[in-house]
Amino acid sequence: MSELPLVIRALHERLHFRYRGPLRQAHFDTFLIDLADWKLSLTDQTPCLWVHKPEHQSLAIFDLAEEVRDAVREADWHAEVVLVLVEWQTAELHEALKAAFSHAGHFTQFAVIDAVQQRAIAEAASPSRVMQDWLLEQIPLSDLSPYETGRFVTGNRFFGREFDLKQILRQQHDNYLIVGVRRIGKSSLLRELQRRLDLSDPAGEQPRRVYVDCSVLQSEDDFYKEIISQLNPRDIKRFERQSQSQRFKAQLFQYLAGRQGGRITYLLDEVDGLLQQLTGDYHVFEAMRHASAQDGYARFILAGFRELDRTLHLIDTPLYHFGIELTLGPFKLDDVRKMVTEPLDQLRIKLEHREEIVQHIYQETAGHPNLVQFYCKSLLDQLEGTKRRILSVADLQVVYDDNDFRRFLMQTFLSNTLPLERAIVFAMVATIDAPETTFSLKEIDAELGRRSLQVELSQLNTACDNLVTAGVLTGPKQKRYRLSIPLLATMLAETYSLDFVFGKARRDFLAATALHPESAS
Ligand SMILES: Nc1ncnc2c1ncn2[C@@H]1O[C@H](COP(=O)(O)OP(=O)(O)O)[C@@H](O)[C@H]1O
Ligand SMILES: [Mg+2]
Repeated sequence: MSELPLVIRALHERLHFRYRGPLRQAHFDTFLIDLADWKLSLTDQTPCLWVHKPEHQSLAIFDLAEEVRDAVREADWHAEVVLVLVEWQTAELHEALKAAFSHAGHFTQFAVIDAVQQRAIAEAASPSRVMQDWLLEQIPLSDLSPYETGRFVTGNRFFGREFDLKQILRQQHDNYLIVGVRRIGKSSLLRELQRRLDLSDPAGEQPRRVYVDCSVLQSEDDFYKEIISQLNPRDIKRFERQSQSQRFKAQLFQYLAGRQGGRITYLLDEVDGLLQQLTGDYHVFEAMRHASAQDGYARFILAGFRELDRTLHLIDTPLYHFGIELTLGPFKLDDVRKMVTEPLDQLRIKLEHREEIVQHIYQETAGHPNLVQFYCKSLLDQLEGTKRRILSVADLQVVYDDNDFRRFLMQTFLSNTLPLERAIVFAMVATIDAPETTFSLKEIDAELGRRSLQVELSQLNTACDNLVTAGVLTGPKQKRYRLSIPLLATMLAETYSLDFVFGKARRDFLAATALHPESAS
């Protein structure tokens, strides 16, 4: 018998999909296949069980199904979809595996591909197409869809940002400082970079990328301990003995690079919290600067929001000119189009007036990736459990009435803005009849003044810049700004007494200015 199931051979030899295996696991030969390019829920490590042994063929179908389920438990696979590739013809195995299956709190769907289907896929003009059709017959839409609104996304779920990815992957020596508001996609970008860098390693290399969530770190030592424990936990004791020595810390990056056999890329997420904890003692960034500048033992990619942005512009900190600055903004129309149409096409969902739907979503979300995801997800939800496979502009209406979406939009706005920025938005919303009304700085200033809020030009300017970065304002176009997300404007007007919330934002701003005259903006 051959060493590979026919489907994997076809996908690999004809279409150059990567796979790993066979790995012997729980009485089965198993494979991991990289189907991330399909932009469905199938990841770069989609698990496959190969059912090809005579002892499996002689089992009663329900016993075989139970063995398959136990194999998933034993392998501890937390995949949404597990492929079961069978070397004979069976319609019953799919029936037997159809019931909802969860293990350790995780839900898994099985897609069975038997010998006849394997051959059909292998011989098809487009194996991808035939295989996807077959998956669609067996797996509910929501389980095949790549849309995700809750956590960071990578691989099959990652869209756009090609330019940034390419630049960072190409400039292997440069540090990067990635600044962006909450939920704009910083963590996703870091994780995707890590994934792609790891992919480019020859097999069997030591890990040379370290991802650190800095929001949980209290001190410089916490940071060093975290990277040591990821790379070589046995060195923790030694570190604890020498943690007083800045010299030891300075040499640590070199030491770790030596151990791992080359330059290490450190992906440091959420650095704002750590910067605040350090209260001006930036030794650790000094050490990073050295490790990356002279000797190439390390490379750093930092992501954060306001505190990072503030610190990297202070001349006397080591973050000044630490690396290339990159502001992560909303998606451009092209990226939104990809995120909407690629998965829906793969899911064989027809979009009536396709471009109009894309334009609508783009205008209503201002390209905010998380909001686009929300739109796509609720569009799909409407088809789930029905036979309908067509969507039109009218279906977008459902999103407006979705309370979760409204709550989410509001929370994103509140968590991404400071008091003065909110005051500006409330004043704008209170003034306009139509969401597309534009404002010059002078008009915004006048509206604030009418409401007894006097601010300096620099503060006003910074606040408007920040609102643009946050995706709340668009512009300045011919020196004029407008509210980016029409639904947000409508909602703020519907939900709040604008006088009241403006008054509150004004008070908060004035209180913050009195406390920290230099930093309130
Ligand atoms: N490149 C991307 N492709 C698709 N969706 C994205 C992308 N970046 C962000 N998102 C969406 O935004 C959400 C928040 O992304 P995340 O990376 O956690 O943001 P941040 O770290 O900036 O807070 C994700 O759950 C996803 O819905
Ligand atoms: Mg994040």
